[in-house]
Amino acid sequence: MGLGIYGFGSRRPKKGYGAALIRVAKSDAKRLIKFSGGASCAPPIEFQTGADARMETTNANKIALAVLGTLLGTMALGIFSNAVFAPNKALKPGYELPGAPEAAAAPAAAPAAEEPLAALLAKADPAKGQADTKPCQACHSFDKGGVAKVGPPLYGVVGRPVASIAGFAYSDGMKAVGGDWTYDKINTLIAKPSAFVKGTKMSFPGESDAHKRADILAYLQTLSESPVPFPK
Ligand code: HEC
Repeated sequence: MGLGIYGFGSRRPKKGYGAALIRVAKSDAKRLIKFSGGASCAPPIEFQTGADARMETTNANKIALAVLGTLLGTMALGIFSNAVFAPNKALKPGYELPGAPEAAAAPAAAPAAEEPLAALLAKADPAKGQADTKPCQACHSFDKGGVAKVGPPLYGVVGRPVASIAGFAYSDGMKAVGGDWTYDKINTLIAKPSAFVKGTKMSFPGESDAHKRADILAYLQTLSESPVPFPK
């Protein structure tokens, strides 16, 4: 086609124009045949393999994308459903039983109406009390003329000034208590030492049983030449 136009242009043939055109067309066709049949055979094959390789990577990419997309979709669905159906987290574990708080409150009120110390002391048992001082004996001597162990000796402690054993390194909190040891004071101390004396060195958690404490106090009463009478 282009050749035809070229022929009409700069080199206009004078005679045999048609034959020349056929010749050109012939050589052109030959060239085309040569191109498609000869050395030009390899490139199309190469092109094909290239396309295959590209296809393979494209497929792998497609599969990876599908897997990723599914994973992301599942995650997004979970987040979304969590947002929509916000899980109702219990503030405290377990089930609230109807009527349970009232039932629990009733016995809690009972210890508040605890027997006064005088009443407890009136029926206290010093022998039982001696047995109950087992944990105290790890730190205290209860014998007459006893010496300091971890804690000061306790013979005759009732009526004795607080923190008065010479040479014993009492805590500042104990020194600040002041006054003499009464049954009431000792009762409060041994119920929970850390609550009664700030920063006490008496690392004893305390005796929570009021009856046991009364028995211990009754035993302490016996550890004296002139026992201090119980409060009325
Ligand atoms: C782990 C050791 C330990 C145990 C157990 C212990 N105490 Fe003490 N106790 C001490 C120490 C130490 C002190 C001095 C506290 C301070 O200075 O703060 C002390 C102080 C005392 C005091 C004051 C004495 C004073 O001279 O002012 C009394 C009373 C007392 N204890 C009674 C008891 C009784 C009763 C028990 C048992 C129910 C007991 N303790 C158990 C270590 C102990």
